[in-house]
Amino acid sequence: MKQYLQLDPWNIIEEGFDPHHHEISESVFSIGNGYMGQRANFEEVYSGSSLQGSYMAGVYYPDKTRVGWWKNGYPEYFAKVLNATNWIGINVLIDGETLDLAVCKVTEFVRVLNMKEGTLSRSFIAQTPEGKIVKIEALRFISIAHKEIGAIRYAVTALNFSGSLSLTPYLDGDVSNKDSNYDEKFWLEVFKEVTPDDAALTMKTKKLDFHITSVMAYSLLKNGEPLTVTPEMIHQDKYVAHQLQLEVQENDQVVLYKYVANVTSRDHDCDQLITVGRTHLTSAMELGFEALLQEHLTAWDVKWRESDIVIEGDVAAQQAIRFNIFQLNQTYTGEDDRLNIGPKGFTGEKYGGSTYWDTEAYCLPFYLSTADASIARNLLIYRYKHLEKAKENARKLGFSKGALYPMVTMNGEECHNEWEITFEEIHRNGAIAYAIYNYVNYTGDTAYLGQYGLEVLTEISRFWEERVNYVPAKDQYMMLGVTGPNEYENNVNNNWYTNSIAVWTMKYTLEVLNDLQKNEPALYDELINKMNLTEDETSKWCDIIAKMYYPHDEERQIFLQQDGFLDKDLTPVKELDPSNLPLNQQWSWDRILRSAYIKQADVLQGIFTLRDQFDLATVKRNFDFYEPLTVHESSLSPCVHSILACELGYKEKAYEMYLRTSRLDLDNYNNDTEDGCHTTSMAGTWMSVVQGFGGLRVKNGALCLNPFNPGHWKSFSFKVMFRNSRLKVTVGEHDVTVSNETETSINVNVYGNDYTVNGLSQIKVSL
Ligand code: BGC
Repeated sequence: MKQYLQLDPWNIIEEGFDPHHHEISESVFSIGNGYMGQRANFEEVYSGSSLQGSYMAGVYYPDKTRVGWWKNGYPEYFAKVLNATNWIGINVLIDGETLDLAVCKVTEFVRVLNMKEGTLSRSFIAQTPEGKIVKIEALRFISIAHKEIGAIRYAVTALNFSGSLSLTPYLDGDVSNKDSNYDEKFWLEVFKEVTPDDAALTMKTKKLDFHITSVMAYSLLKNGEPLTVTPEMIHQDKYVAHQLQLEVQENDQVVLYKYVANVTSRDHDCDQLITVGRTHLTSAMELGFEALLQEHLTAWDVKWRESDIVIEGDVAAQQAIRFNIFQLNQTYTGEDDRLNIGPKGFTGEKYGGSTYWDTEAYCLPFYLSTADASIARNLLIYRYKHLEKAKENARKLGFSKGALYPMVTMNGEECHNEWEITFEEIHRNGAIAYAIYNYVNYTGDTAYLGQYGLEVLTEISRFWEERVNYVPAKDQYMMLGVTGPNEYENNVNNNWYTNSIAVWTMKYTLEVLNDLQKNEPALYDELINKMNLTEDETSKWCDIIAKMYYPHDEERQIFLQQDGFLDKDLTPVKELDPSNLPLNQQWSWDRILRSAYIKQADVLQGIFTLRDQFDLATVKRNFDFYEPLTVHESSLSPCVHSILACELGYKEKAYEMYLRTSRLDLDNYNNDTEDGCHTTSMAGTWMSVVQGFGGLRVKNGALCLNPFNPGHWKSFSFKVMFRNSRLKVTVGEHDVTVSNETETSINVNVYGNDYTVNGLSQIKVSL
């Protein structure tokens, strides 16, 4: 754990330059706009350790699978988010010496991520080996008002010399991924051009033919006055630049504005990319840096109005929750239903930037509550569009029908290649089905079911139907050879969570079918025909629902994570010598698998998801049994525990678990932030506040709140959108205030009592 960042409610601040922290900071200070994202790499040359990362959403590379022992059913490739053209680069030469923080003496270094405004700034004083001293002030943003545009203001002040200064803004397509199975580069040059006014570079991927065009232009000021310099136009392999040669006097300040438009063949024909890029760039230049920035700030202001959480009396918690919200908002904006949320967002390459069950199980509630319903709907449509591929995936694994959604995907095809996960961690199908329920329950958009949802539900139910096996001697259905959410157990029989979510899916699918038959018989007939759904199938589902086997311990009255779980040594984690932790770094895989230690919520994930099915005493018994065995070595784990602990009144536990997720990256808890931030688990942190401390649930179409103040804060407040209204819920030391920020009145239930909150008014209820 490294705590080197300053506390502040709206900013992440790094003071002083320590190269050991640099790659962590490159992740933490990343910026993005849903369309593209950028790690906080320096503009100028940096010869120290750095992970370069410029990502364009949806642009990926199918890197040929590399495994030691090939198994039938493995995918041919692992899709990787691509480190694309470096568009931020500006080389600086001071009287012939390269500005490089790895070799200069650096003082007064400050790097700031301004979360309110969505900007990254950096200032420092650098002394070159020859003794020339410059002050640099850089400000960068990726516009959320003009998604193709990134802009940089880069100011250089000569502090102790008069001489030459060379500034070279460039585009460099000769970039690589750290994570490349065969150490190859993924890009080929297609086109480049440098004119006195701009420079353009088009690169394409070696496979799949994704094209990215970047077009850049600049303007210069010297001591506040516009400056015209004839640039030297540089073309090199996969590289274009303008070299600007200047003479400066001591104390002169030169400001370079660099504007870049990045466009891709995902949105435009390849032969149009240069024209489209230039058009965006020209509009950006016409607006100018300040106006562009203003529009960007205004757009962020709207996002914060919809999603901010305010925590009074604890600046570390305040900063952390805003950091989580900021990352989620800059990773996914929901405008493009072909995009999704990778576990690292735009902050690193790990997990390939691909889609996991994290989206449905963790991220969906955040977008449901903080944005228009169309945003969350697009996350569902993404899976609907992948239904055919999910069916193909099931066929590939030998199923005669149904759909198995992939564990990891970019385009609907499975990319994951560890048999115990790819073939066995099938609970992911349940999360995708449950997300449909969650969306419809929250938004009331029942039309979604007939339009898209039912087809997905049916194919998933069909998969479960074939995946279970009937055991005549017991007259029960079982599910053998699976991996539950706890990946520290593989190839187990009857994972309680998987059996439960499978049955839940079939029940819900039948319910949706019945409702549709009653309410929209014509559409029902059309869909039954389209899907060829027979009564034999639905009767089979009913039989499975009635006769599913669930492992259970009579004595303790708990659900068993899987068959045989109680045969393990059940020594709780707190009795382990801490030198054993984290298990995934200290123990062999074999030892982990044999132990009872749980990586992340499993039975408790099921209880959390299907909460309405269990009384509080059942929740308590299972929580008390499983939590002490849990090592939380997935960032997705603590939030589920925090939310259940809130319900159980375990305030300290709830708060402890909350802290573990909320500052995970800011304090580099897991010593892995340099690989990227844990973006999907950030949605879990948000859930801990809103569903945990706020106790928000939707029951029978009504918003219910059950808030408590965890005691470490003077107050906290959160915003939620619900059915055309936006509410601000403030939980103080003695009471809860629910303010309706919109004009539509809304009914809410607080601590079991119903209230109407009229438009633009509020109610107060004692805690
Ligand atoms: C977790 C999975 C998760 C993945 C990506 C793994 O460590 O066990 O549940 O989907 O990370 O976040």
